[in-house]
Amino acid sequence: MRTETACIHAGGRFDPATRGINTPIYTSSAYEYLDGEARPYPRYFNTPNQAAVVGKLCALESAEDGLVLSSGMAAISSVLLALLGSGDHAVIQDEIYGGTHAMVSQHFERLGIAYTLAPAEPGKLVQAVTGKTRLIYIETPTNPLLTILDIRAVTRMARERGIVTVIDNTFASPINQRPIELGVDVVVHSGTKYLGGHSDLCAGAVLSNRSIIERVRHMCLSLGGSLDAQSCYLLERSLRVERQSANALAIARSLAASRFVSRVNYPGLPSHLGHETAKAQMSGFGAMLSFELADPVATDRFLHALKLIRPALSLGGVESTICAPATTSHAKVSAEVRKRLGISDGLLRLSVGIEHADDLVADLEQAMEGGRKG
Ligand SMILES: Cc1ncc(COP(=O)(O)O)c(C=O)c1O
Repeated sequence: MRTETACIHAGGRFDPATRGINTPIYTSSAYEYLDGEARPYPRYFNTPNQAAVVGKLCALESAEDGLVLSSGMAAISSVLLALLGSGDHAVIQDEIYGGTHAMVSQHFERLGIAYTLAPAEPGKLVQAVTGKTRLIYIETPTNPLLTILDIRAVTRMARERGIVTVIDNTFASPINQRPIELGVDVVVHSGTKYLGGHSDLCAGAVLSNRSIIERVRHMCLSLGGSLDAQSCYLLERSLRVERQSANALAIARSLAASRFVSRVNYPGLPSHLGHETAKAQMSGFGAMLSFELADPVATDRFLHALKLIRPALSLGGVESTICAPATTSHAKVSAEVRKRLGISDGLLRLSVGIEHADDLVADLEQAMEGGRKG
């Protein structure tokens, strides 16, 4: 099945009782067991709705098996806790989602897990490997600077050393990037973002081969964090990412040409450091971009002057939203670390929706004019 077809048909459950063509919502948390068959239970990650979503995600991510969880952080923490233990060492990319950074820096030491934070460069990640390294954790494009890491270069070196690779594929989505095809072992998602796409659910996903999923499932049975039937049903819907990505490219080009903007981070722009690598490993450049206004003092006025694009937390919805990572997604990362990574207080992260690109460009332009005058 091609990607578009898999989005619609993979995993879905036809209902033989009514002949309805979409997956029914099975709300039961208790199933009869006397016939001796293994029965579903939500926290065992084996209900019909969970299986339907996992089937679709496996088709999209070229994975053998998967789990759907109640948030992206539930997925990320379950994978890290399942695959790492006391005495192990992990190499963690330093520029990643703030919540993941916080989990590593606040909890690993207490759990006896050693780690090294390394920049998003294959050479630097390899240098950080020790004899005890069991896992390399990467994110590309990154939140919020859209840095691109050469996935193949990392997985080649990790495989040679028998180290498991985990990638957060939230920003690209499987429509734009399929890391397992590039040699990655485990893909995690904040399904709250592009997989959900309508800003109305909180979910996470883990996709991998059968043996790794069994290890993660075993951890999840203790941690809980499974996804409910309603959210599974919502996750099964729609394909919007291509339109969002096309809009993002148009907006990135317009921002890059604007006299009010000093910097634009979007892997689809030839001026982006990772543009060639992104072209080689992504089928689209995604719908996230970040930028800085030439006059950082005008940032707050600019956010207030926007009429269409909403200043809101989260990302990946059909409606365009914007936020300042220093006070939102990366607030838990210390000011010192943010500065070192290049996440300035004036940086704005734009999640592009499916509105008409011209309307979005017009909104940004009028807010920049207004922000300047105000
Ligand atoms: C790249 C990335 N990964 C993971 C997460 C965590 O996802 P959730 O909020 O669904 O737990 C986020 C949330 O913003 C994110 O942007």
